Amino acid sequence: MTTHAVVVGSGIAGLTVALHAVEHGCRVTLVTKDVLDHANTRFAQGGIAGVMFDDDRVEDHIHDTLVAGAGLSDREAVRVLAEEGPARIRELIDIGVGFDRGEDGGFVKGLEAAHSYPRILHSGGDATGTAIEKALVARLRASRVDVIEHAFLVDLVVDGGRVRGVDLLVGDREATVDTAAVAGRRGIVAADAVVLATGGAGELYAHSTNPAVATGDGIAAALRAGADVRDLEFFQFHPTVLAAGASFLVSEAVRGEGATLIDETGRRFAFDAHPDGELAPRDVVARAIAHQMDLQDGRPVLLDATHLHGDDPEERAAFLARRFPTIDRAVRERGLDWAREPIPVTPAAHYLMGGVSTDLFGRSSLPGLYAVGEVACTGVHGANRLASNSLLEGAVFGARAGDVIASDAASPDWPAAAGQSARPAGGEPSGAAPAGDDRVDVPPFSRAALQELLWDDAGLVRDEAGLGHAASVLSLWRTQSREPHTELEYENENLLVVAEQLVGAARARRGSVGAHYRRDDPVTSAPIRQEAVAC
Ligand code: SIN
Repeated sequence: MTTHAVVVGSGIAGLTVALHAVEHGCRVTLVTKDVLDHANTRFAQGGIAGVMFDDDRVEDHIHDTLVAGAGLSDREAVRVLAEEGPARIRELIDIGVGFDRGEDGGFVKGLEAAHSYPRILHSGGDATGTAIEKALVARLRASRVDVIEHAFLVDLVVDGGRVRGVDLLVGDREATVDTAAVAGRRGIVAADAVVLATGGAGELYAHSTNPAVATGDGIAAALRAGADVRDLEFFQFHPTVLAAGASFLVSEAVRGEGATLIDETGRRFAFDAHPDGELAPRDVVARAIAHQMDLQDGRPVLLDATHLHGDDPEERAAFLARRFPTIDRAVRERGLDWAREPIPVTPAAHYLMGGVSTDLFGRSSLPGLYAVGEVACTGVHGANRLASNSLLEGAVFGARAGDVIASDAASPDWPAAAGQSARPAGGEPSGAAPAGDDRVDVPPFSRAALQELLWDDAGLVRDEAGLGHAASVLSLWRTQSREPHTELEYENENLLVVAEQLVGAARARRGSVGAHYRRDDPVTSAPIRQEAVAC
């Protein structure tokens, strides 16, 4: 019998799973809720981390990842990531990803925060994600993988304790935009294996680097199906997003090239928070910026690139345009000249470290269900992801999942079951009931209201008062929620589900660690992972 795998999502992780699974003889259908190349991957700027230079060491990449993860990473998963990363990067090169090379023909080395070695490869300066997405999509289109675009995952089909397919809503977004007369079509695709590669949930927050497709669909579907989910309290905020016009990521690689963070008086403040200053772990820098913004009545801090590349502003402008063409365009579109003046930046929600709990092959706790990429929690990132490890994680664990799907389907047992590690609890389960205050002044549910709520109460800095308020509002919205019918309504329901779990997990985690920082309990907590939760 040929194994039929359905992959949901078309970023680096989903495309890699599909390409590997098809090589192993699987029949693969890849479904994506937008068009193939509209995944979060294409927005990745900085690059992909990996040990690709003779004087770098796998042990150092492991060490840097563990340090950034603040003691909560899974050591074995990190070892797999660092050891297998170079082979996956070579695979990308083989399919045509042109990582930038210097005059000597060698790869250009990029440095980002908390890396002890400049091991980041980039393409097109700051367009690495786009280059990877393009090459993988081209390879997929030339493969035997069937593709269904504009297909939204309504739910997983579970029967007899095993995932057996996906329930899809096809063409709904198109229909609602173009003509209300044509509704989306519902349909089940049966499968022996379902792989969630649906990305993250940046749409939870009012300010985010993510595209609008990042609505936590995979995590919500996994929770409804009964799969274990973990670490949702760890949401990474990127330190530097342009605070002029629409949010736009300014890669950490800009600080890696030497740009500094200054306050309104021109003082470098990042060293107040950490000896590594601007290149401290991302959570530290993001909080240092938020603190500085509080001190200056909410006004953004400044990213200063005006000392890079010598004294001549014309040469500097040419360097910035060459090294960071995407960012340069965005900066100039906003009427700013970063070769001559510092630019305003602020933190924004960027990456969800938690997700569907998996083993080292992407297997979830639920037989037949895999998760890869941002939707998954392999344990690699712990409490704070090291810069440029996310594309690498998608490639490494995507390949691993794609390589085992066919053999898993042929085996009577679900190999992940024994490996699922429900660790010592760090507090009450994340779905705990809120210390409710039904009288809080609650606006009606809307996506914007949800985003403001999470930004204010479950963002970069939290406390029990804010989290309790968020929990009360969410529980009220839950009592008012109605059955969804359209894609946008399903997305909103998914965001609500993930928000409830995130807030519950954040309330349960005492102390502060990595991206989870409580102003009412700033002492670093012991590195305990909370138990995985299932609805
Ligand atoms: C960036 O370029 O700063 C983002 C890269 C990442 O999130 O790893």
